[in-house]
Amino acid sequence: MGSAESAGGRLGAVLSLPRSGLAVLGPRGPWVATTPALARHVLTTPADYDFPGDVSRTGDLSASRGESRSGHLLFAPLAEPHVGHGAERFATEWLAECAEHERTAPTAPYDVMRALRRPVALGTTTAVLPRADEARLQQVAALVLAWVDALGPVIAARRPPRRWSRTRRAEERTRLALEDALGSVPDLEGTPQQAAAMLAAGVQVPIAAGSWLLAWLADHPTGDVDPVHAVWESLRLTPPTWLTARVATRDCELDGRAVPAGGMVLVSPLLLGRSPDLVPGEEETLPRFDPARWGDAARRPGAWLPFGAGPHACPGRTLGLAMLVSLATWAVEHQLRLDEPVGIDQSRGIAPIPCSVRVVGRREART
Ligand code: HEM
Repeated sequence: MGSAESAGGRLGAVLSLPRSGLAVLGPRGPWVATTPALARHVLTTPADYDFPGDVSRTGDLSASRGESRSGHLLFAPLAEPHVGHGAERFATEWLAECAEHERTAPTAPYDVMRALRRPVALGTTTAVLPRADEARLQQVAALVLAWVDALGPVIAARRPPRRWSRTRRAEERTRLALEDALGSVPDLEGTPQQAAAMLAAGVQVPIAAGSWLLAWLADHPTGDVDPVHAVWESLRLTPPTWLTARVATRDCELDGRAVPAGGMVLVSPLLLGRSPDLVPGEEETLPRFDPARWGDAARRPGAWLPFGAGPHACPGRTLGLAMLVSLATWAVEHQLRLDEPVGIDQSRGIAPIPCSVRVVGRREART
């Protein structure tokens, strides 16, 4: 597995920062809150540090029919029964995907980023659209994946693509098709634009999170692993949303330093996940995947904020965790092996590419 410590790009730059307080990446920012207390303060003080509306470049919804998503929109967390249905649907679809793979390509490795697409899309769509019928769920799940794919090049581009570029037009076409389909879902929560944003966030990130999880487990065939511990350990070392941002609403003082109005302050769950105060184990072991470290109940997993914090914390956290625990449970019942070295794609959060995994056997179920 490629290690984040040796990665270049933004990831390498953030990981090499001194971890004693507020760090800065350039003469006019962005600033990085490198301690847990500072990070939590930034994320939970929306009067001073607001959510940037255009962080994913989907803020420009000028072509959308209706109200666009603003940075001030708050998403309600998914209700528990809906999470349950979504997680069940994910588990069923994942087993169906595996059965199909074994039937059609038994000797080939799984391309995990691809194999997880349909199970995650249907799991999330089931949870977010509890009143949609099966045909609509299938249609919306396919349209979300199409929009997520079309958004990729928009987000990865160095500069936002022009309005009439091929990239932007493909993004707009797929978004409007999704919004149209959502328009006829009964009892939709919020507008079609808001539901589309919720679905896209709830599909793209868990696909990356699930792929990291299988990659780590395949790279560490250690036998007896607790699935919940494996999920937290994967979210610690490779949180897919490894960086989140807030913008100062006024001139602020943070950690004794001036951050001007409009200045961007970054919080990195990946950096915080390497804090010796938050993670059990000797400091030199912190870059290693070791799910058993969470057997020490004295430290609470998640303090490095893999789901963010404050009013803009992840509203799909319980569903994300439920899908990942279901996947880890399947993984520890099988013997997985990495088929080729995993690289870190930084074009959109972090994703393991390639993530090619073989199922080489089955273990006895844990008791
Ligand atoms: C393992 C899976 C997931 C991880 C690791 C994850 C992580 C995150 C993180 C770090 C943020 C940014 C929070 C902040 O800036 O404070 C976020 C935001 C968000 N997530 Fe998730 N997420 C996951 C699954 C989901 C799911 C399943 C859904 C929907 C069903 C979802 C919907 C959203 C939305 C809509 C936002 C934006 C919230 C806002 O802007 O107010 N996420 N997520």
